[in-house]
Amino acid sequence: MRWITARRRRPFFGYAAVLLALVAVGMLYAAVTGLGGSTASAGSGSSSAQITEGKNLFAVSCATCHGEYAQGSSVAPSLIGAGAAAVDFQVGTGRMPLKETNAEAPRKTPVFNQQQIYAIAAYVASLGGGPAIPSDQQVSAAGADTALGQSLFNANCAQCHNYSGAGDALTYGKYAPPLTQATNRQIYEAMLTGPEAMPVFNDTTLTPVDKRDIIAYVTQTRAEANPGGFSLGRVGPTTEGLVAWLGGIGALVLAAMWITAKRREDHTGEITGNR
Ligand code: HEC
Ligand code: HEC
Repeated sequence: MRWITARRRRPFFGYAAVLLALVAVGMLYAAVTGLGGSTASAGSGSSSAQITEGKNLFAVSCATCHGEYAQGSSVAPSLIGAGAAAVDFQVGTGRMPLKETNAEAPRKTPVFNQQQIYAIAAYVASLGGGPAIPSDQQVSAAGADTALGQSLFNANCAQCHNYSGAGDALTYGKYAPPLTQATNRQIYEAMLTGPEAMPVFNDTTLTPVDKRDIIAYVTQTRAEANPGGFSLGRVGPTTEGLVAWLGGIGALVLAAMWITAKRREDHTGEITGNR
């Protein structure tokens, strides 16, 4: 502490502190924006306890329609072979458990938490195969080719979801929803499992790399459209970053002023004499 107190009297220490704090804010900003949407576990490596938990949840909430053994019924399809990814998508977007049978299951607030969803997914996967829940790495858009993603999106998705991802009506009361809410993982799972009227885009049709490029394009377009929060002139994430920087700098400058002001009070004369 004495060491710090001694150094603090030097003017350069103030600049160094401000610089250090700026770097910290920058790093914090990068961490907050860059790594959003990552979860610890994607439900792989499921234990038998998890499968049992999933089986019990399934019996209570899903079996009435999908059958006691998920074998399907007159009202709902069999889930044997549907896979963990389909469950994570359907239950994670709140589509399942279905409330009433409409032309299309709408997106709702999920009924189950992520851990319960993983349990049901593990149970359904244990019944036989199907696509697994994609990992954080697979769904990360970091370093993906957004331009390529745009042309892939225009060729494969835009006819239903619109060029901007705003969604569009389909025939028979069905619609392709806007892509404003789906997480990276849900976008990947939608392609992998093809919910309802949407076709399945397996890994030969769209390779895992193609899927990441599409995710990067969808999430970037969405950030530019600014569906939530302050629009800040609708110029995209760059302005938001700038505002965060300037706001951060402002707070830091105030803090620095407060520190120096306090010191002057405490050691008047002594310090001014030193300078
Ligand atoms: C009220 C009846 C009903 C209930 C309850 C219900 N489902 Fe469904 N489910 C359906 C119908 C109908 C479909 C087919 C239409 C669709 O995909 O929206 C479906 C489709 C699905 C699919 C997609 C199948 C595929 O091959 O991609 C999954 C996965 C699914 N349900 C899981 C669940 C789970 C898990 C629960 C319990 C948490 C559940 N469902 C509860 C009626 C129901
Ligand atoms: C033939 C029309 C069609 C095409 C082509 C299509 N989709 Fe879909 N998509 C749909 C429909 C219909 C739904 C709603 C399914 C449901 O509610 O169960 C949907 C749902 C989705 C969702 C879930 C949205 C949410 O908020 O829950 C995502 C994400 C998605 N699609 C992405 C894509 C991507 C990416 C492509 C291109 C690779 C694509 N779709 C191609 C019709 C289509």
